[in-house]
Amino acid sequence: MAFALSAERERELEEIVSRYPNRMAACIPVLHFCQEQNGNWVSDEVIEYVARKLDLSTAHVKGVVTFYTLFNQKPVGKHQVWVCRTLSCALRGADRILEHCEKRLGCRAGETSPDGKVTLRTAECLASCGTGPMMQVDKRYYENLTIEEVDRVLDRLTKG
Ligand code: FES
Repeated sequence: MAFALSAERERELEEIVSRYPNRMAACIPVLHFCQEQNGNWVSDEVIEYVARKLDLSTAHVKGVVTFYTLFNQKPVGKHQVWVCRTLSCALRGADRILEHCEKRLGCRAGETSPDGKVTLRTAECLASCGTGPMMQVDKRYYENLTIEEVDRVLDRLTKG
């Protein structure tokens, strides 16, 4: 089914585009906006829509989507958990945090929990190196993690 926005969302999208010197420059924010409107993933229909709106080729838009890990190329869980695995966090136990998340959620990194609530991922440095181990849940950071804190966070996501 073709992707479409309501008239109000179309106006919001055009307001986003107006902040940039040309339509191509608005590609990333417009993709973020459309991803959010599409249940948090970028389908082929979204790519076609964005390409048409910004006068770009679908190949260009697809190139942007596949380059940045913040664009989901398939449906994801309601929440997204990113566990940083880069050096500072790794030295402070990121492996243990990730392993615990996998066990609790019943899925491996890169997968979605069987109840569809959480997609678990690993991330490269999220610029919070002094407070590792850390993870990002949707748009919020959780730092200086312990297994107990991870349990509290995952409980809120899966039981809330
Ligand atoms: S190494 Fe984990 S936030 Fe930088």
